Amino acid sequence: MVAFDGMAMDGFPVQADWGNPARDPLHGRRIAVTGGTAGLGLALVRELLSRGARVAFVARGRPGVERVEREVPGARGVVGDVSSKDEIHPIALQILGSLGGVDVLVNNASSLGPAHLELLADTQCEDFEQALATNVLGPFRLTKALLGSLAGSARERRGAVVVNVSSDAAFNPYPRWGAYAASKAALHHMTGIWAEELKADRVRFVSFDPGDMDTDLHRAAVPDADPVSLKRPELAARELADILAGALANAPGATQTRSEAPVR
Ligand SMILES: NC(=O)c1ccc[n+]([C@@H]2O[C@H](COP(=O)([O-])OP(=O)(O)OC[C@H]3O[C@@H](n4cnc5c(N)ncnc54)[C@H](OP(=O)(O)O)[C@@H]3O)[C@@H](O)[C@H]2O)c1
Repeated sequence: MVAFDGMAMDGFPVQADWGNPARDPLHGRRIAVTGGTAGLGLALVRELLSRGARVAFVARGRPGVERVEREVPGARGVVGDVSSKDEIHPIALQILGSLGGVDVLVNNASSLGPAHLELLADTQCEDFEQALATNVLGPFRLTKALLGSLAGSARERRGAVVVNVSSDAAFNPYPRWGAYAASKAALHHMTGIWAEELKADRVRFVSFDPGDMDTDLHRAAVPDADPVSLKRPELAARELADILAGALANAPGATQTRSEAPVR
């Protein structure tokens, strides 16, 4: 774990066991998760609810949203596309309406860009634009739309955190990952800038790399990967929830975490 603002690494502890569930810093927090019907997002919705948080989640597909609402008691679904400028305010309003405000936003929904990984020279501009719209502009716009509520939570000392889900592709020039990797690098860098700019408002920003997980996104990118070699999304969700709990429990600051890749 590395701090953007020079805070000591141990100044932002990750504590997996909070003892009494009511003492878990996630208890009662209002948390919005984009991409909550599959993979890491769905695992996170389940984890956060099990720890007493109030959770709204977003995804494009109505059937998936309704299925998760049925299967995960307490999960409040919002149908929307974070890559669409016109849908951001309706998404934000529904999140605020269903939770009565927001303390934490997790920008998790993501696009690879091309349906299958391509060399940059073969990548369609429209596919590159889709990666940027989903992975950079979506988180930017949704953060802006929810900033008033987040800053209010920080002022009321409830704590306010935005987590942007990054990737090791943001740091490594893997061939064929161009559109996705460039968008994740931009997301990661934007996270640091938000952190600096909102430090005085005590809204914290975390860039989180979950590691290679056994999910639909990974299957689309690397169809022949051995699932056994991949991380379970439930494990990454628990790690992310623990980081969030630590962020909410401790002094304001801006933090960057990477769960597996070496710290840089
Ligand atoms: N899997 C990995 O190995 C890996 C590695 C490093 C980082 N990550 C990152 O971890 C995060 C989660 O990835 P994942 O593998 O769990 O993904 P996933 O299994 O493909 O799930 C994606 C979720 O996001 C929703 N979604 C996609 N585009 C959306 C949009 N434009 N608006 C709203 N919702 C949208 C999907 O539902 P709909 O299709 O219904 O919208 C689904 O609920 C991503 O940020 C990814 O980049 C993943």
